[in-house]
Amino acid sequence: TATAATATPLAGKKLLVTAGGTREALDPVRFLTNRSSGKMGYAVAAAAQQAGADVTLITAPTRLSAPSGVTVVPIESTQDLEQAVISRLPKADGVIMAAAVADFQPLHQAEQKIKKSADNDQLVLTLKKTPDILREVAQRKRVDQVVVGFAAETQDLLANAQKKLATKHLDLLVANDVSQAGIGFNGDNNQVTFLFKDGHRDQTPITSKRAIATALIEHVAKIFTEK
Ligand code: CTP
Ligand code: CA
Repeated sequence: TATAATATPLAGKKLLVTAGGTREALDPVRFLTNRSSGKMGYAVAAAAQQAGADVTLITAPTRLSAPSGVTVVPIESTQDLEQAVISRLPKADGVIMAAAVADFQPLHQAEQKIKKSADNDQLVLTLKKTPDILREVAQRKRVDQVVVGFAAETQDLLANAQKKLATKHLDLLVANDVSQAGIGFNGDNNQVTFLFKDGHRDQTPITSKRAIATALIEHVAKIFTEK
């Protein structure tokens, strides 16, 4: 029936959803990470699953339990995430990159725990850039695949987001102002602007991450119908 069809607009679609903040090891007991809670990505995975998609949630460690019915792939580092996404890309219909991916990783990972030394009050870390997974996805993606990115910004939200939409060749970008207290990173609520490839934009009110995830999935379903 028409009702059943609209309730599961993503039936038959295989979606990869990434979530959480990646961890970049410094030594066997330490890592660098960020303030991402994973809530937005988990909400997206749940909304996609409810819309009928076959969801693989590729997730950095979080305090959250996975939504029922999704396949969970645990990862830690950006390199793990890259491998997990790129290896599954050929069989996927879409990718939603909600993970807060580290931009830099320690140049060297110490094999033993780093020790304090008596003659040095400072420790200087050298970091190197991580691979940009979305850029790689963009290079490999087929025209029938839908790719969604997020942008976390503390200034010039829309200008920076517009650049990411274009340079990462995304179908849709979810722009997140992470400078506002209580929304974005970590909180239960969020406010985002959806930026579409055709230039059109849509700002949500401040609302639950769940509601934003539902809106995002509706947009993704519509993009699939236009492919
Ligand atoms: N992303 C990625 N690989 C990275 C870094 C980011 O795939 N190494 C993805 C994120 O998951 C997100 C999008 O790219 O969907 C934008 O992330 P963001 O941190 O906002 O932008 P960057 O391109 O990393 O640029 P900057 O942090 O300098 O603003
Ligand atoms: Ca970044």
